[in-house]
Amino acid sequence: MRMGLLAPCTPGHSPSRRRLLAGVAAGLVLPGAALGAASPRVHSHILVAGKGRQRLDPELPDDTETWSYNGQVPGPLIRLGQGERLAVDFRNELAEGSAIHWHGLRIDNAMDGVVGMTQESVLPGESFRYEFTVPDAGTYWYHAHQRSSEQVGRGLYGVLVVDEPEPPDVDRDVILVLDDWRLDETGRIHPSFGNLHDITHEGRIGNWLTVNGRGSETIRVGAGDRLRLRLVNTANSLVMILTLPPWQAWVVSLDGMPLPEPWQVRSELVLSPGQRMDVITDVPAEPGMDATLDFRDRGQVIPLVGFAPADRPGKPPREEPPRALPPNPVRPAAAVPDASTPLVMRGGAMGDLDRADYQGEMLDIRALARLGMVWAQNGVIDKPAAPLLSAPLGSTQEIVFENRTAWFHGMHLHGHHFEVPGTMAGTAESGTVLRDTVLIPPRERLAVKFLADNPGDWLLHCHMLEHQTGGMVTWIRVG
Ligand code: C2O
Ligand code: CU
Repeated sequence: MRMGLLAPCTPGHSPSRRRLLAGVAAGLVLPGAALGAASPRVHSHILVAGKGRQRLDPELPDDTETWSYNGQVPGPLIRLGQGERLAVDFRNELAEGSAIHWHGLRIDNAMDGVVGMTQESVLPGESFRYEFTVPDAGTYWYHAHQRSSEQVGRGLYGVLVVDEPEPPDVDRDVILVLDDWRLDETGRIHPSFGNLHDITHEGRIGNWLTVNGRGSETIRVGAGDRLRLRLVNTANSLVMILTLPPWQAWVVSLDGMPLPEPWQVRSELVLSPGQRMDVITDVPAEPGMDATLDFRDRGQVIPLVGFAPADRPGKPPREEPPRALPPNPVRPAAAVPDASTPLVMRGGAMGDLDRADYQGEMLDIRALARLGMVWAQNGVIDKPAAPLLSAPLGSTQEIVFENRTAWFHGMHLHGHHFEVPGTMAGTAESGTVLRDTVLIPPRERLAVKFLADNPGDWLLHCHMLEHQTGGMVTWIRVG
């Protein structure tokens, strides 16, 4: 089904401002009953990075060659119980080095998957074993963390779900992985990775959307069902504006972390790259025939997921709203931070950056643009030699982001979640929420804080992957 043009900002390099198709696309439907393992277990997986082929949408003329884990996008679902151990044998069959980052999981630094910081690149033909305990329940994901713009952009990612010991009372647990792709007219991934226009503007915006790596499917739901939707934005740079069917719905967690109280959904939902959101929604007794989850962009409405009534007898919807999910063992930050560090973001198109430090050299903006390095944090482009901050273990750190650019940035901290004012977290609610990736609008200032309780060197970067490529990367040291 042709749904209209996504108006990607891609002048100058894309021969194909294609129509964005998004058929009524698909959900990976899993039983809601959970695993509740009695004793800690080790879950073993083998992930092989290499080439795969799949039909990203039935309306495309051909299969698309991807880079993917075990030949499929998304990669294999990894699912285990809170407190259990995960062991992943990663083998790299790409023609270039790679590593896997476990986005949002508060794990041992040595397992964080950051090439050049926590481990060496896993070269072609080589292997690396990741093994760690998952402390928090919730919706997470894993992805390549070397040349991320191209490696993630070609499909190197998958979902990781950690089940609560006592899962909430739902009838369906549905994972919805949302991605955009920039394809040429034959269905091939457009090779324009890392071009200067994308780096300096809003990043690599695609022209096709997928849900769970495909299109044209519908989730069958029974009248009265309670659904848990796990939304994951794996796009390189596209901020997704989403609307749900007009049913009762509550956001119950953000970036894996439960909200203290479920928030009733009253408007559109915002999900920036890297972010996740769990929503519980009740299918009414008389479901509409064409209930959809829609993507919205500049006046377009593109149905991504269709919910169709199952042919089985319905039941009355639950009377009570869902209860909050059990909290994860995240220790709160102190009311008054031990230290506060500004992070002034400058650069990009329509920015005011005229010079900055890049690899210890002061360069003017022309020289920087030639290098494709155009985003500065406190005057430094790309990972500086010294950390943005050095936090004693157990200290409370405040970071004050100041976005002096003309663009949105989704800043992601590894190894910790920060406390973010609720109104900045994509909802109208006040109070504080935990996020590992926070979207900062142009010209805005945002103070976040966190308890620095996970020792190691941790990356802090923009999850618009083309901005990351263009130098929007810094790091912190804990302990
Ligand atoms: Cu999801 Cu450093 O990345
Ligand atoms: Cu950015």
